[in-house]
Amino acid sequence: MLGEDRLYEFKEGKLYISNKEIYLLKYKFIKILGNGASGVVLKGIDTLTDREVAIKIWLPRKNCKYPDKTRFLEEIKKVSKLNSSRIVQLYDANYIDENYFYAVFELVDGKTLKEWLSEGKGIDDRYKITCLICEEMELVHDKKIYHGDLHTKNIMITDNDDIKLLDFNTSIFARRKQDDPHKREGKLILETGLKLLPEENEYKFLDEKISECPPVCVPKVLLSLAQMIWKAETCTSELDDYGKNLFIFSFGEYITKAPFFNLNSIVKYFVRCNYENKYIYLLLGYISHVCKEKLNRQYNLNIEPLKLNENNMSELIRVYNEWRIEFIKRIEEVNLPYSNL
Ligand SMILES: Nc1ncnc2c1ncn2[C@@H]1O[C@H](COP(=O)(O)OP(=O)(O)O)[C@@H](O)[C@H]1O
Ligand SMILES: [Mg+2]
Repeated sequence: MLGEDRLYEFKEGKLYISNKEIYLLKYKFIKILGNGASGVVLKGIDTLTDREVAIKIWLPRKNCKYPDKTRFLEEIKKVSKLNSSRIVQLYDANYIDENYFYAVFELVDGKTLKEWLSEGKGIDDRYKITCLICEEMELVHDKKIYHGDLHTKNIMITDNDDIKLLDFNTSIFARRKQDDPHKREGKLILETGLKLLPEENEYKFLDEKISECPPVCVPKVLLSLAQMIWKAETCTSELDDYGKNLFIFSFGEYITKAPFFNLNSIVKYFVRCNYENKYIYLLLGYISHVCKEKLNRQYNLNIEPLKLNENNMSELIRVYNEWRIEFIKRIEEVNLPYSNL
């Protein structure tokens, strides 16, 4: 079998890498579960305890004779720092010989997010999974750890509709903010989120400035986006005055929590939904109020409805942009300097 340019063969319960049998004293191999950029993962049995497990064996990369020991050590050390039911648990890891090594993880009964999405899931299911991923990634980032490679084959959806994050295989939190892993972390989380929320292609709620969002805040932005899209998709009946006010204020809250949204397309959305101007003015007034308050400009509980015209819309966008710049500054002050844990 060809595993991403690296040859391994699994035959009659035996695993061969570069024609050499890979044998583990304590574990019996059952079948191949999957493979990726680093190695091959097999279902196995711990012959001492009879526990079913997932065994990952690192493979040599293209044009390399042996697998990369640094990546192996990084992954097992990183995952050992995390203790959550939503992160695959590491049971054991060791060298097979001086060139090969393995790690034994809990066996996840389920499918990859990629397979799950290919079944064509509805917004309710996708919304729930997006929230779980964002919440878990916030916890990972709180520990100053990056996942490093959060794509749809490194997230599993369990048979009881929960998530399990796997394959924490690239380097721990970036050392300097301009380092690539830093940008990559945010970019991958966002890409995964947008695969879960393809409706965003139509709504265009996110601003292009999302590319400037500190990676540790991407889950927060995605969570707000998921809530907005889920509400927009599921609230199909005409709301009464109270319902419209609640809807408007919830959007105001999501938009200002992490200021990476496109105010023009959000206004267009409410116009398309036939919201009367008074509601849209209320939303704009609320956003302006919250941004100014966050910028310590003014504290005024009376939210002035902001009448919509070209001048004050561009003024509002200016204040919102200012809040975004300040938001980024505050996040970076808290998170720098990044340490190599
Ligand atoms: N603990 C596990 N339980 C079940 N399947 C797993 C487990 N770990 C990995 N897999 C499967 O194996 C694939 C490759 O594992 P992964 O750790 O991502 O390897 P790589 O670092 O080579 O990408 C995953 O996409 C998934 O399908
Ligand atoms: Mg992988």
